[in-house]
Amino acid sequence: MIDVRNVTKSFRSGSRWVQALRGLSCRIEGGRFAFIVGPSGSGKSTLLYLMGSLDRPDSGQILVDGRDLVRMSEAEQNAYRRDRVGFIFQSFNLISNLTALENVLVPFLPRGVTAHQRHRAADLLTEVGLGDRLDHRPYQLSGGEQQRVAIARALVKQPVLILADEPTGELDSKTGDEIYTILRRLQESSGTTLVVVTHDRRFITPDDLVLEIQDGQLANGHEMGAVDYATALSAR
Ligand SMILES: Nc1ncnc2c1ncn2[C@@H]1O[C@H](COP(=O)(O)OP(=O)(O)OP(=O)(O)O)[C@@H](O)[C@H]1O
Ligand SMILES: [Mg+2]
Repeated sequence: MIDVRNVTKSFRSGSRWVQALRGLSCRIEGGRFAFIVGPSGSGKSTLLYLMGSLDRPDSGQILVDGRDLVRMSEAEQNAYRRDRVGFIFQSFNLISNLTALENVLVPFLPRGVTAHQRHRAADLLTEVGLGDRLDHRPYQLSGGEQQRVAIARALVKQPVLILADEPTGELDSKTGDEIYTILRRLQESSGTTLVVVTHDRRFITPDDLVLEIQDGQLANGHEMGAVDYATALSAR
């Protein structure tokens, strides 16, 4: 469970400060599929990165399973990012001279890869439909295939939380559909919490949690389920 409490975050932009998050609070129960939506520049990515401890807020708390990321030591934050969080980015971020299998094993490379981890990585690539592409390098894979490798890489360490920033932003709509089908299947089977930033609201289903952000705060000051959200949209 993620509990974000009254978080603020500013960035310096030339001579002025941009307030990306203005006292934002939200809560995501464990095992949920959650979306963060809102206009460009509203603070979606900033919030996602704070949840992944890629950055620190100026004030507020970010509790993950009861522990405040903000109060963790540097070493604890590193361990959290390394062992407990999987990241999926818009631009895939694969390492170009490694094979698909090696890319999935990247989280384990610093400490050495076990046979069990290698099997798990190969199984995950098979699950995302790339069982016959283990030895391909990124340039030999389509965008959708590269994103599937990135999904396998995020899942291989069995994270409690997966954070995805516009995971289909660089893909055509059919490939985007396939990526969401895979994400949903793996999220359900693993029970991990998945938080996705997107502009594409057609992937939202009634069971999902929708966090709508505007100007660094939750719109309407509360969380909306997808059903509330559809109602709110049709009322406009
Ligand atoms: N590292 C940074 N340095 C300076 N300003 C930043 C930085 N990161 C974000 N910002 C600013 O903070 C605000 C929120 O940015 P953020 O990236 O969170 O928006 P977003 O909702 O993800 O937008 P988009 O949909 O375009 O990706 C923006 O005004 C942005 O310019
Ligand atoms: Mg963004």
